[in-house]
Amino acid sequence: PKMTDPNLTACSSGPEVRICIFLIRFERKPFEVCGNGWVRSVRPQKENLFLHVNDGSSLQSLQVVASSELNHRLLTFGSAVEISGSLVTSPSRKQEVELQADQIDVVGECNPVDFPFKIKKKHGLEYIRQFPHLRCRTNAFSSLLRIRSEATAAIQQYFKEKGFIQVHTPVLTSNDCEGAGELFQVEPAGQEKNQDEEGHQHFFSVPAYLTVSGQLHLEVMAGAFPGVYTFGPTFRAENSQSRRHLAEFYMVEAEISFTQSLEDLMKVMEDLFRSTTEHLLDQCPEDVALYHKHVITYTEAINILNSSSKKFAFKTDWGCDLQTEHEKYLVKHCGDFPLFVTDYPYALKPFYARDNQDQPLHTAAAVDLLVPGVGEMCGGSLREDRLDLLKTRLAQAGLDEAYGWYLDLRRFGSVPHGGFGMGFERYLQCVLGVDNIKDVIPFPRYSRSCLL
Ligand code: 4AD
Repeated sequence: PKMTDPNLTACSSGPEVRICIFLIRFERKPFEVCGNGWVRSVRPQKENLFLHVNDGSSLQSLQVVASSELNHRLLTFGSAVEISGSLVTSPSRKQEVELQADQIDVVGECNPVDFPFKIKKKHGLEYIRQFPHLRCRTNAFSSLLRIRSEATAAIQQYFKEKGFIQVHTPVLTSNDCEGAGELFQVEPAGQEKNQDEEGHQHFFSVPAYLTVSGQLHLEVMAGAFPGVYTFGPTFRAENSQSRRHLAEFYMVEAEISFTQSLEDLMKVMEDLFRSTTEHLLDQCPEDVALYHKHVITYTEAINILNSSSKKFAFKTDWGCDLQTEHEKYLVKHCGDFPLFVTDYPYALKPFYARDNQDQPLHTAAAVDLLVPGVGEMCGGSLREDRLDLLKTRLAQAGLDEAYGWYLDLRRFGSVPHGGFGMGFERYLQCVLGVDNIKDVIPFPRYSRSCLL
């Protein structure tokens, strides 16, 4: 509807003549246009040849009508075409306008025998995943990529509107933020390069890794800004084939200064989720679901699990980490809506999490957001800002030497702060109801698979 420029009559190619052109007002009809796209269907009839052509800008295809005398041998499903003709009001009720073609050129042929996707056949996500270089040509995956792009824009917009500063945290780092040892170590290819003239074993003198989280770098910035965030690739060497884990995923992480309450964090997590989802509902209404929430403590969660008749594979004693089976059960139990679980056992959380000062249970001011079908989507905590406690915690973890700089953050103008991370792929899995995480990322990397 925004494309109302009456001068937009003819052009050679390019985005000006995307499918959304059929939303142009039709004061001056017919419109002479020329556009490009990929053939989605071909229907030869007695007098006319009907094509549907899609240019990737939306799920909808434009109906193109050509003379039946046109040689349509190469106009196969998947072929790339350039079409010039007139946009006219369509006599059919199925669409408002159609393109009466004067000329159709096949820019790139597509052999229907070899092409793995067949006309009119609905291929499952598992099938199309086998073709990472071609799956963007299916409706299902091109739709996913548009949604991913809109969600990315919505996340950036949310943080911008709230006054957060975006920080490009490094991909190469010497820290293991989570302390879980799930690190990909990085050195130049070729053994001989690993040793420099002075005999250093490592390119950076110390071992370097692909980042598992930008949190610690965000915490640096939280010492100078009220709110910071990062949104980038994150790497975990988890030897897992599960439907929720990737070796490379995108994480949205935020850090909020001058806060002492989990409520503040939950508000941002909820707002981010809500505004991103609202944006998607607005832009891609057919693809997304509605938002609800609920809050329980970890202790309540354990009680719910222990009073269930369901047999779980993993233990449900107080102090045990919640496993995917537990998280999914809790979400179902609480009405199949997104669910916050707060106040996890202190011992389960990394050195940076603050405790709730609630002996004897000793819980951490930490929160996870669990969502239907996926389980944990976001994890966050208030950060330990008491220097002495942090020192003890780092010493207990044997990290005191490596994290002297982190202690400095608490020494110089420290502010109470907290933050969280949201797995972007898990977010997409949740709103789209996609079972397998490999189907919401363009090029999935996971144990024993690094295609392309
Ligand atoms: O709970 P995690 O490990 O938290 C952190 O990394 C914190 N440093 C974040 C912070 O407070 N700034 O990971 C956060 C989220 C999880 O809730 C999950 O959504 C996602 O990252 N995630 C994964 N997504 C895909 N594949 C994996 N292997 C993932 N591991 C974590």
